[in-house]
Amino acid sequence: MGLAAMATTERGMAATVRVLGRGELGRFTGGDRSEVARFESELAGFLGTPHALAVNSGTSALVAALVGAGVGPGDEVLVPAYTWVSTAAAALAVGAVPVLVEVDASLTMDPADLKDRITPRSRAVLPVHMLNHVADMDAIMEVAAAHDLVVIEDACQAVGVMYRGRAAGSIGHAGVFSFNQHKNIRSGEGGALVTRDPKLFERASMSAATSAPDSPVPTRT
Ligand SMILES: Cc1ncc(COP(=O)(O)O)c(C=O)c1O
Repeated sequence: MGLAAMATTERGMAATVRVLGRGELGRFTGGDRSEVARFESELAGFLGTPHALAVNSGTSALVAALVGAGVGPGDEVLVPAYTWVSTAAAALAVGAVPVLVEVDASLTMDPADLKDRITPRSRAVLPVHMLNHVADMDAIMEVAAAHDLVVIEDACQAVGVMYRGRAAGSIGHAGVFSFNQHKNIRSGEGGALVTRDPKLFERASMSAATSAPDSPVPTRT
């Protein structure tokens, strides 16, 4: 999480001062008691996913999720044609090829067009929940399951939004959030990924913490 916290509320201001006062500005000195660990635990609890990893941006979270899912060179990643550039750039950052999928009237990924864009090289699909509108996740999960694709929800713009009783970001194999200045939760810069998959989580954590050899883009917490 960025320390340039946007302390735009009294609670935010108090939290910022608390972190500065403790002098533990990252996760590594505070261990399980660090503010980062507390945030991860609360985020995971709120979303109903066992694992959450806080990183320095939504873009880093997307890259870590792709690395965590084993997506790399030669793979195709299906992304909606309407999104912020980071969604496609994250695929490129891990050496994969972004493939554009049309959006429907909701301005999110069209599940019918998704079906048509799948090739033998398709590996992952990155639906984006634009402007707090959750993509048609039931249909997307069905297509993905039929073609053995990993689903990483780009929920950067939809922290806290519900879809048929489930939280955006908790439906796919991993979900990714941004906490930049324009998002539902703001920390100046910041991001997180959540997942139910312990292996994906472990690989994502390694890539975010150490810039492991299979992570071409160094990311830091
Ligand atoms: C849909 C979407 N994906 C990814 C990102 C990247 O997030 P960040 O700016 O925290 O890197 C953003 C943020 O602008 C976004 O809106």
